[in-house]
Amino acid sequence: MNQMNQVHVRVHPHVRGPKVERFVYSQFAEHLGRCIYPGIWVGDRKDIPNDGGIRLDVVEALKALEIPALRWPGGCFADNYHWMDGIGPREQRPKRHNLWWKQSESNAFGTHEFLRFCEMIGTEPYICVNVGSGTVEEARSWVEYCNCVEETHLTQLRAQNGAPTPWKVRFWGVGNELWGCGGRMRPDQYADLFCQFANFMRRTDPTIELIACGSSSQNMEYWNEIFLERVFSYRLHHWGPLFEYLAIHHYLGRTLSDLNFTDDDYYGLIGELDQLRKHVEKAAALCRAYSTPDAPIRLIIDEWGTWYVEAVTENGLYQQNTMMDAIVAALGFHLYHDYAEDIFMTNMAQTINVLQALILTKGPKMCKTPTYYVFDLFRGHKDGERLPVDVSSPPLPRVEGRAAVSVSATRAREKGQVTLSLVNAHLEVPASVAIDLGQPVTRVEGRILASDDVHDHNTPDEPERVVPRDCKVAPNADGTVTVELPPHSVAALTVSL
Ligand code: AHR
Repeated sequence: MNQMNQVHVRVHPHVRGPKVERFVYSQFAEHLGRCIYPGIWVGDRKDIPNDGGIRLDVVEALKALEIPALRWPGGCFADNYHWMDGIGPREQRPKRHNLWWKQSESNAFGTHEFLRFCEMIGTEPYICVNVGSGTVEEARSWVEYCNCVEETHLTQLRAQNGAPTPWKVRFWGVGNELWGCGGRMRPDQYADLFCQFANFMRRTDPTIELIACGSSSQNMEYWNEIFLERVFSYRLHHWGPLFEYLAIHHYLGRTLSDLNFTDDDYYGLIGELDQLRKHVEKAAALCRAYSTPDAPIRLIIDEWGTWYVEAVTENGLYQQNTMMDAIVAALGFHLYHDYAEDIFMTNMAQTINVLQALILTKGPKMCKTPTYYVFDLFRGHKDGERLPVDVSSPPLPRVEGRAAVSVSATRAREKGQVTLSLVNAHLEVPASVAIDLGQPVTRVEGRILASDDVHDHNTPDEPERVVPRDCKVAPNADGTVTVELPPHSVAALTVSL
């Protein structure tokens, strides 16, 4: 290595920007492949330590990440899921066919199990109801079952099933991908159904926050516009706002391989983030246009991440997760920080064993992926105020308009600590990054995720090939900080001023 990119960063720690919502670091888990069974639920298997069927190694790993929200039960599965199948004595629950992911569904993991799992890992549940093949009453009654205090047949049933106290689930999605697996609907058709579902769900519990199904990368040119136009066209909003959030989906790398990728593939994948930015920009502009001061609509990206050619229905959308995924995750979060005013939540797909997973399991073994460690490194950003950052960096090769090094900064509201995340996306050239915060730094600590080869990854048999380590960083005599970033690496610094 005979070259080193020189990068200069100026952070403005006293110009406080919008809050980076902690919900930006949320997750999505669907009844798909091995995500729920056996990623979360192992039933009475003796070889995997569990608490009432929920595997404890996964709980421990996810609890440590403090994931703000978890979306469930799908995905495509949601629009063919009938929630009453998943309550009551487990041995009496009906077996069903998982229509979209072509597997058998035991219904052993239902509402109670999901909400218990959320409690165990300390996350806020986000339930997506069935619009495509369900009824308004089915969706409404699910809200009643989970949230209502008043004594009714359903709340008594909940108590009989072991939960006398309501869970008060805050986030409710009204269907999933209605243009596709959710029912092949037109946006105007979904808009009409959406109003009906949202009306009865909201009336059942006025405190819930509702999420409408927005666009994917394939229909971003028209879906949101037509949907919003239709929902707002009849001025029915004098009944009060119908929803709080519009959710879009965006996957990356659909023509690439998880492990057999070339340098061109890698840079091409990073280039795809520009498409994600366009999608976010377009959807955010519409949310702003339809927001009013007392009824804001904020953006959610409730499915995103890499989806490679290896991930097919037959293998339950399983794929490996390398340092390339870590770089994409980190740059994705930097993009979301740029839209902190607009974005309320993002849910990477999916938590365990599916797509850009945090955890991969094999029988009783598991590993944390490089993407897991990005969530870990970026934890200091949660609920921080975004700070302006000027970065002067050489360009990234083969990706027009992108710098080799990307930096994002937030300041914790109370403690005043600054968190800086840095990504060197260059495949060959390391970077020396000089950071000036405009005042002397008294203390700085850092951790870095780096590996010799961008293809490096962890497996349940070799779980510690890619792990973060402390990074050598100290204040310079002039009060600035210098940090060295190897090629394809992600670092996070905590700075005390
Ligand atoms: O995350 C996998 C699938 O991708 C989801 O079920 C669906 O919503 C999307 O198309």
